[in-house]
Parts: sequence; structure tokens; C-alpha cells
Amino acid sequence: MVVPASISSVSVEEVARLRERFLAYARSFYTDDPDPDLQEAIDLKIEHTLRVCEESRYISEALGLAADARHLAEIAALFHDVGRFSQYAHYHTFSDRKSEDHAALGVHVLRELEVLAALGPAEDLLLRVIGYHNRLALPGPDDETPACLFFSRLLRDADKLDIYRVVTDYYRRPASQRNGWVAWELPDTPGISEAVCDDLMAGRVVHNDHLRNLNDFKLLQVGWVYDINFAPSLRRIRERGYLQILRDALPDSPCIEMIFEKVGAYVAKRMEDGFVNSCTPCDGSA
Ligand SMILES: [Fe+2]
Repeated sequence: MVVPASISSVSVEEVARLRERFLAYARSFYTDDPDPDLQEAIDLKIEHTLRVCEESRYISEALGLAADARHLAEIAALFHDVGRFSQYAHYHTFSDRKSEDHAALGVHVLRELEVLAALGPAEDLLLRVIGYHNRLALPGPDDETPACLFFSRLLRDADKLDIYRVVTDYYRRPASQRNGWVAWELPDTPGISEAVCDDLMAGRVVHNDHLRNLNDFKLLQVGWVYDINFAPSLRRIRERGYLQILRDALPDSPCIEMIFEKVGAYVAKRMEDGFVNSCTPCDGSA
């Protein structure tokens, strides 16, 4: 496996300094007269971010990345959702469809506050990686550098690993203890959308525009396995039983049966074949 050559030297101390900066920024959204929803939303996003950092460290170590690359990946994880705080404060939702693109919002915050300016050429690389983290698909190899695509893949895997934790925890709670914003306020109505089933049976990630209800939202997460880039990430998904929890949270129907057969076969084959295409050769260009 070929991994990125050093892009920029980033010390452990710099990562620690940026972690403090992130926490100070996130906590600045607390108010004297706390709105309990806002308070919980802030706490949830801080917790999510720190866990995505942990997932990023796990993947980086499993891939054998050098220290500088591990640190860059962790900084991307640390700031990937920084746009969520102003998004919730302004719009009271985490739905990008009902507000604005939280990745673009985060890039705007990071530029305005010059948070990553001390990182030199790695600043622009990280802003691109963060900007891509919630896209349906990454740019092609002709439109981005191998290093940018590598770190983007790593961040997207780390983010998904923790979102699986958040949503599977949510689905197992009694309905009375669920906060609608976790599932983008989608209604808990019966059935699944045909377009969602078509996406999954074609081996595609579900398009956000096809989501109509909570079952579709659960199937969106089932389809994420098609967009997992590294073997250690897929291993964690299997070890933690996320697909089984999603299956248990969905109704019985022939269509859902077919989807899980297809996805299960895909996961088994991907683990067997390996991930030879996922680690593109990288030179040092950011
Ligand atoms: Fe995230």
C-alpha cells in the first residue's frame, strides 16, 4: 500500500493546540440563558467530533500512516463539522436541505477565523477535504490531487463510523426519547421509497433527495457501505454489528430482504478482494 508522503510537518503539540481552539469555539455557542435544544445539539456535535478524531486515529494507525499524515487526518476530523454550530444556532436544524451546506459553512468559518493558517500549504488541502466530506461523491482523479482524495476518503470513513454509532443508538431508543433532528426530522411512516430501493439494488449510495421517511433514512446508512474506502473501517462496521442493528430497525419486506442480501454479498466480497484501489499512490503535492 502506498500512503501520502509528508505534505507538511505537524507536531502533536499543534494538534493539541487546535483541539483546544475547536473546543473553545464550540463552547462559545453556549449562552447564559441556555436553550436546552441548542445546548444538547452543541454537546452532541462536540462528542461526535472527538469520536470522529478517535476513528481517524484508528484508521490512520491501521493503515500505517506516518505521524505527519496521521496528524493532518486528525485535524481534518477535528474541524470537519465546525459549520454545525452556526448552522444550529441560526437555523435550529442540522438538515442541510432546510438550511445550508454545513461543510461549506465550516470552510467559511475556518477561513474567516484563520484557524488553520499556521499550517502553511496544508491549510488549503484541509479546507478542500472538509468541503468534500459530505458530498455524495468525491471529485475524480483528474480534478483533485491524490493526497486530497486520500485524506477525504479517510475523513469520510471516520465520520461514517461515528454516525453509525449515533443513529444505531437512536433507533434502539424508545420513540419518546428520540430527538427528531438526528434523523433530519423525517416522518416515521410505513414503507420505503422506490428510488431508495433502486439506488441500493444498483450498488449506489442513496441520494439524499430520495429520502421520504425514517425507513429511507435507515437505508441511506445501509448504502454507506458502498462508500467505505478502507478495510479497517469496514472491519469496524462488521465488528460492531451496525448492519444487523439497521436490519432489526427496519420492517420485514421482500424488498428489504433483497437489499440486505445484496449489501451483505458486497461487504463479504469487498473484505475478500481487499481494498487495492483505495490507497492511491500519493506524491507530496497538496
Ligand atoms: Fe461529522
